[in-house]
Amino acid sequence: MTEPTWTSPCGSAKLWLGDCLEVLPTLDKGSVDAVVTDLPYGISCVKGSSGKQGKYRGLVGDARLSRSTEPVIGDDKPFDPALLLTFDNVLTWGANHYATRIPERSGRWLAWNKLEELDSFDSFSDVEFAWHSNGKASRIISYMWKGGLACRKRGENNGKRNHPTQKPVAVMKWCLEQVGLSDGDTALDPYMGSGTTGVACIRTGRKFLGIEIEPRYFDIARKRIERSLKERSEMFPAMRPDAPHKQLMLESGTP
Ligand SMILES: C[S@@+](CC[C@H](N)C(=O)[O-])C[C@H]1O[C@@H](n2cnc3c(N)ncnc32)[C@H](O)[C@@H]1O
Repeated sequence: MTEPTWTSPCGSAKLWLGDCLEVLPTLDKGSVDAVVTDLPYGISCVKGSSGKQGKYRGLVGDARLSRSTEPVIGDDKPFDPALLLTFDNVLTWGANHYATRIPERSGRWLAWNKLEELDSFDSFSDVEFAWHSNGKASRIISYMWKGGLACRKRGENNGKRNHPTQKPVAVMKWCLEQVGLSDGDTALDPYMGSGTTGVACIRTGRKFLGIEIEPRYFDIARKRIERSLKERSEMFPAMRPDAPHKQLMLESGTP
């Protein structure tokens, strides 16, 4: 296994700075209960990423409505999911953009309604789709997350985003439920960006493996995950690596 670039003191998060196409083949598949990811869909190579703002523009004051056009590594070519499909339990966002390359008549579709009760107001999509390799019934989550409106109503961190295609933690938590992860299970996100899947894992007591190729997003992800671990250990002091019962277990040799 390629050594992680960073491992949390409690061992529940391991992060690699690098190309997942090189790191993934070295990972022990048995250590991964599900792959939950939001990868570069390859949409910039199809239709670019600009769009028109719409009727709510005047209502949001100085909030930034425009979508970032900052390029994301890998978004300039069609995505090939072959390597991801070697794992047993896989949930990937944006799979409608590479639907011809996922197994036919298998798995199910999940949808995220980004408008909740609002009408469409710009030229960007109001819904995103994920494909899950297992499971039967298609499901939907409604969670507002569009431009400045999302910042006003529900934006995490007061609407400040760390990544041009950042997902809400709430949506990634829902994904962890959809793939059937229990407390203590491990999710892998090989395209972790700013680490949202990792934050969702730590907040819900799951373990996390993350890979990111771009150093600045890797650093953001590590900081967000460290913060989540700190918050969780303040909430549940017994989970801290230096908690007395853990020392006792280590001394007695009990796992
Ligand atoms: C769609 S973004 C993920 C955003 C993430 N969901 C978030 O909330 O921040 C995909 C990420 O994959 C990274 N990436 C692209 N190709 C990669 C590769 N071969 N290995 C690892 N990371 C890669 C990009 O740098 C980008 O940050």
